[in-house]
Amino acid sequence: MEVIEVKELYKNSDKYFDKEISISGWVKNLRSSNAFGFIEVNDGSFFKTVQVVFDDKLDNFDKVSKLTLSSSIVVTGTFIKTENAKQPFEIHATNVEIINLSDSDYPIQNKRHTFEYLRTVAHLRPRTNTFSAVFRIRSVAAFAIHEYFQSHGYVYVNTPIITCADCEGSAEMFKLTTLNLEEDLPKTEDGKTDFSNDLFGKEAYITGSGQLHVETFAPAFRKVYTFGPTLRSEDSNTKTHANEFWMIEPEISFCDLDELMDIEEDCLKYIVSKVLERCPEEIDFCDQFIEKGLKEKLTKLTTSTFVRIDHHDAIDILKKADRKWEFEPDYGEDLAKEHEKYITEYYNGPVFVKNWPKDIKSYYMKLNPDGKTVAAVDLEVPGAGEIMGGSQREENLEVLKELMKAKGIQEDPLYWYLDLRRYGSNVHSGFGLGFERLLMYITGMENIRDVIPFPRTPNNCDF
Ligand code: 4AD
Ligand code: MG
Repeated sequence: MEVIEVKELYKNSDKYFDKEISISGWVKNLRSSNAFGFIEVNDGSFFKTVQVVFDDKLDNFDKVSKLTLSSSIVVTGTFIKTENAKQPFEIHATNVEIINLSDSDYPIQNKRHTFEYLRTVAHLRPRTNTFSAVFRIRSVAAFAIHEYFQSHGYVYVNTPIITCADCEGSAEMFKLTTLNLEEDLPKTEDGKTDFSNDLFGKEAYITGSGQLHVETFAPAFRKVYTFGPTLRSEDSNTKTHANEFWMIEPEISFCDLDELMDIEEDCLKYIVSKVLERCPEEIDFCDQFIEKGLKEKLTKLTTSTFVRIDHHDAIDILKKADRKWEFEPDYGEDLAKEHEKYITEYYNGPVFVKNWPKDIKSYYMKLNPDGKTVAAVDLEVPGAGEIMGGSQREENLEVLKELMKAKGIQEDPLYWYLDLRRYGSNVHSGFGLGFERLLMYITGMENIRDVIPFPRTPNNCDF
């Protein structure tokens, strides 16, 4: 008999009532007595389970009553509408075929496990309710992101994973080499490692941002974006940093900082509204068990107007706050986590912080007329902190060269990036959206390790 997915049973129940159907899936829960029992089956197609009722008319009743958690089964039976029950329907089994009886030591039993413990069984945790919700939302959000950019005429660009270009600081990029680390490394005359006989004939890295490469496509396609993995070697053991994360990097020609913020706001609202629309069961679950008030927060976001303040004004607010800081806020400094938290709570929603001191930001950002700040903008949200970082780009060749010089960035390897300022330069802007930070915001999960299938963080590369 044709197997029907549980999602289809929920969406089109009426079609199947009183009919004989088959489902296949895994045992999520089982209760049984001498003569009958109930199995909750999840088949992966839908967040919710379907209840299977069985009794001792089954040939294998004894075996079915002793099914262990996560055993795989195929159930055939009549699909029955249930009035006044917790679940809207159930299957009265005529046959339960046991495909694989799970070992009884299945590491995720039906009790509350901590997220820390579940990270140690990352190969099994997608089967839990929480991670089922998180990872389906991850998939739906990824699709919504492509949908947003594609429907607005952006071209998707695959930027390289292996690179020699320094975008966000070479100190934070993983080095890539085929040199034999067991042997003494070849040295140049000045005592540095000699990469001339390495595979690429020079020192290479794994990308820490696709921005510079995607910028080259902007003058060809006007609006472009990347969506791919990013690696950074920073030794930051926090709830919001991973060494491998995914980033969306749009780049828009003829677009200034104000227009960029409009796009960022529109994009975030689109993604959130699509997740609300397409994952109602998952969002309800997260609202109930992960972050109370999540659904209201997300719904409110879709119709709110994000606050836009200068970095200078953000520091003013922090300085006026009647509280002690671990890190004293300062006009020339970055915002610490506690500052981000205060500002987003102060405004009770997402806040754009713009026009940052140039010394603490990247070389490619547009120098403002004051000569002290750059046209950069970070979007801060409660919980996840900075989810987007972007800027108008310095489009003037001479100014860009000055900025590079001041930050010790070599021109030669980036001649091609400078060429963009020679051939058809224009006011253009772009941003990077941290996909995991976005997911933390949407699901309410507090640790980045719990929104990425196999997290890579300092001292952790399990699986
Ligand atoms: O602010 P970042 O470093 O900006 C860039 O990489 C620019 N090249 C983007 C651009 O303008 N095209 O990173 C962008 C975003 C951050 O706002 C944050 O959400 C996320 O990437 N991010 C991280 N997410 C997880 N773990 C880390 N270690 C992250 N570092 C940055
Ligand atoms: Mg940033």
